[in-house]
Amino acid sequence: MQPSKDWIKDLVIYQIYPRSFCDSNGDGIGDLPGILSKLDHLSDLGVNALWLSPVYRSPNDDNGYDISGYQEIMEEFGTMEDWDRLRNACRERGIKIIMDMVVNHSSDEHPWFIESRSSRDNPKSEYYIWRDPVDGHEPNNWASCFGGSAWEFVPERGQYYFHYFSKKQPDLNWACPELREEIFSMMDWWVQKGVEGFRVDAISYLDKPQDFPDSKLPPRPDGYSFPDYLSGRPGTHAYIREMNRRVYAPGNVMTVGEVSAPTVEELGNYVRTEREEFDMAIPFVPPIDEINSWSPEKLRNDAWESYILMPKDGWWARFLSNHDKPRQVSLYGDDGEYWEASAKLLAMFIHTLPGTPFIYQGEEIGMTNVSFPSIEDYDDLSTRDNYNQYILSGMDPRRALSLVRLESRDNARTPMQWDSSENAGFTAGRPWLKVNPNYTKINVEAQKQDPRSVYSCYKKLITMRGKSAALSRGDLRFLDAGCPELIGLARSFEGEGLLVFLNFSKESHTIPAGLLESAGDVLMSSYDREDGYRGPELRPYEAVIFKIKA
Ligand code: GLC
Ligand code: CA
Repeated sequence: MQPSKDWIKDLVIYQIYPRSFCDSNGDGIGDLPGILSKLDHLSDLGVNALWLSPVYRSPNDDNGYDISGYQEIMEEFGTMEDWDRLRNACRERGIKIIMDMVVNHSSDEHPWFIESRSSRDNPKSEYYIWRDPVDGHEPNNWASCFGGSAWEFVPERGQYYFHYFSKKQPDLNWACPELREEIFSMMDWWVQKGVEGFRVDAISYLDKPQDFPDSKLPPRPDGYSFPDYLSGRPGTHAYIREMNRRVYAPGNVMTVGEVSAPTVEELGNYVRTEREEFDMAIPFVPPIDEINSWSPEKLRNDAWESYILMPKDGWWARFLSNHDKPRQVSLYGDDGEYWEASAKLLAMFIHTLPGTPFIYQGEEIGMTNVSFPSIEDYDDLSTRDNYNQYILSGMDPRRALSLVRLESRDNARTPMQWDSSENAGFTAGRPWLKVNPNYTKINVEAQKQDPRSVYSCYKKLITMRGKSAALSRGDLRFLDAGCPELIGLARSFEGEGLLVFLNFSKESHTIPAGLLESAGDVLMSSYDREDGYRGPELRPYEAVIFKIKA
């Protein structure tokens, strides 16, 4: 870690998905003035950085991840003056702004694309990836992430353009030096405006194999195959390093790359200090894969592998939630009987690992997945594609719906639950996506007053981290607690230490006596609603943090 970047170890980052956070003018869509009106919430929670999901001009095919104006604000969200006000208000509160930057692709409504598609010889012709038809068809068999072919035909050019995401998200051509120049100067413009960090979207796909070979993977139900080799090509790493040299390093900004990395070594290639790429990485795993493969043991092993990969020369983003994942308490915890204890346990896990904790809006009150009655209630284009693929494969519609309910990104995108008034206090109008009906029970107002709420647990953890070098800088050891569902870990730094035990199950598990020899005072318990920690036999989803005896 470069010494100048030591400050990233003290960050606690809160992610806002603006569309769903707070609507100030009753049109049912969250906006910048809405965020501004809720900054006290962030200060009260104690976070010191805000990751803003995209707020740029966008036709919203993928809710802002399709940008049609990088130096403009989406009309529905407000104006650049609103953004300036937000930046100033954040500054006053010591909250750094981290912008979500989407530069793997733009919107097809971006002026660059409109020009690029107009002819083969216009000045922006090379800004996107164009290929001639092969035998009157798409250049290869690749699938787009959001369904159908990754190629779209444009009659004006008699060519196809490549889009790894939706056809309204054409991939930018990073091989074109003028394009790279435009991107770097645009990012630098944001740095000059006071941005202190970037979360860089879908960044592992920048470099494409110029010959676009057919994929050998089995086709999806719609007949197209995901590319077998697209992420992490050496050319992509070279572009990222160029971005670092041109924008990140001179601006001294914090960066977190969203990457698709099949192995932990590959993940390290984006973040080990000597690589000069990103400070941290957010690995992307498709929700259905995560749902099918996760286990407490896997969470522990992944945390350990990434830790030993770079204990001295890199840094970790720690998160269980974001706008692309199901709600963490529904996925890794229990959103029924043990909702509160398990929501606290997950918080205690993330906030006691080495790395920078990320909190996704609503996580701090234990918001859960939603179960909409019909596929029509879902808005997300990826959810709709998954549903279509299930139907195409012959699946019963009811089963398809039950699967997308589990995996849908809309689980994370239902409006923020502020209070128990109509529409959860999110809007005075009709929300763009239905509110989760459990808002009458789960909301900020109710939890703020309650010293034993999930919200209060997050506040305590953030305060504790601010005071504990063992948490922000200490080393990590996992302890063998004799059963895969019981995770034990120790953190220590210059004589200060903490012991953490987390029972990730609905059964009781006992902490082996030998592991408790150094346990001193209990600092926190996920059972504070009841009687707190009462002995080594941990109840379902009980988690406890001890001080290590001096
Ligand atoms: C990233 C974003 C996701 C978006 C995709 C395409 O994975 O997090 O929301 O759909 O990139 O931009
Ligand atoms: Ca609004």
